[in-house]
Amino acid sequence: MTRVFKAHPENPELDAIRKAAGIIKSGGLVAFPTETVYGLGADAFDPEAVRKIFEAKGRPLDNPIIVHIADKAMIEQIAVDVPPAAQRLIDIFWPGPLTLVLKKRKEVPYEVTGWLDTVAVRMPDHPVALALIKKSGVPIAAPSANISGRPSPTRAEHVIDDFMGKIDCIIDGGASRIGIESTVLDLTSEVPTILRPGFITPEDIRDVIGNVCIHPAVIEQVETIAKSPGMKYRHYAPEAEMILFEGTREGVLEEIEKRFGAAGATRKMGVLLFDDIPEIPQEKKIIVGASGRTETYCRIYDALREFDRRGVGLILAQGCEPEGFGLAIMNRLRRAAGYNIVKVK
Ligand code: TXA
Ligand code: MG
Repeated sequence: MTRVFKAHPENPELDAIRKAAGIIKSGGLVAFPTETVYGLGADAFDPEAVRKIFEAKGRPLDNPIIVHIADKAMIEQIAVDVPPAAQRLIDIFWPGPLTLVLKKRKEVPYEVTGWLDTVAVRMPDHPVALALIKKSGVPIAAPSANISGRPSPTRAEHVIDDFMGKIDCIIDGGASRIGIESTVLDLTSEVPTILRPGFITPEDIRDVIGNVCIHPAVIEQVETIAKSPGMKYRHYAPEAEMILFEGTREGVLEEIEKRFGAAGATRKMGVLLFDDIPEIPQEKKIIVGASGRTETYCRIYDALREFDRRGVGLILAQGCEPEGFGLAIMNRLRRAAGYNIVKVK
């Protein structure tokens, strides 16, 4: 049975947090909101509990999980040899959507790290997540709370769709503010490397620690075994077939309108847009808002799940500039489309 607790996103009710923390402490699974997406959490020091996360999600066992902590000092329980660059980033970006890959302490079970000697750590910027970790008294290992491969959940309803009856508890704390997963930065490589882009951009990180590189798999489809095992799997994908259109804004909008016009009436189509195409009827499109603007909440996962709910068979999606926050958005859209990309002049 899955219990669902409502929690005020700013000021969570102690009773709900206490019950959920009890579940974590007894080796159960709790889905909880963070500022990025919902996480599916277990006691990070309980390998049995962590194994249940993989089972519930259908997640490949070699895809490591992020460990969530509630205060900066907790990092000592998770990582060793924390470099000065990490400390500078932590001072500026924690709590927040930046995950750091560091050398793991031997006490962290290999189940969490996918048998790597490194561990990913982050301190989420969400009162419910922080309260849950504190009350549990342990760091919480949590991937995004979606069935493996599906779009990440940004609201409790999404978690309910994927996991009702399959996990112990869901804390409903409303919509996630950012709507896309954290930036993952590897600090164990010679040059710090972004393994997954997010709300914190390469420029943001460069401003603090200087040289940073972006792993090639962030933007291109690479065949070689990826550094971050999560990168090699199809991700964030809707059930519908999806085509992503990239190129000049005008060219892309024109091409989408043309394709929609040719088949929009006969097929169940959905159109994901950053800019409106007035000719496409309201009920066929979702406008996800200005791309690349860091103050905007990223609605792409919401939109992909909504198209599935409507039974859409084909999604036509407008790409955006892969700059700033747009890098993260394009990284997710390309994977969601299974690299089914049409380049337009
Ligand atoms: O915003 C987020 O990061 C959300 C919320 C719940 O915190 N979590 C999340 O977890 O997105 P997940 O499991 O969906 O993605 C974790 C990513 C994967 O790409 C994984 O491969 C990578 O982090 N990762 C985890 N540990 C790693 C490690 N030791 N080395 C390299 N990559 C690692
Ligand atoms: Mg995920």
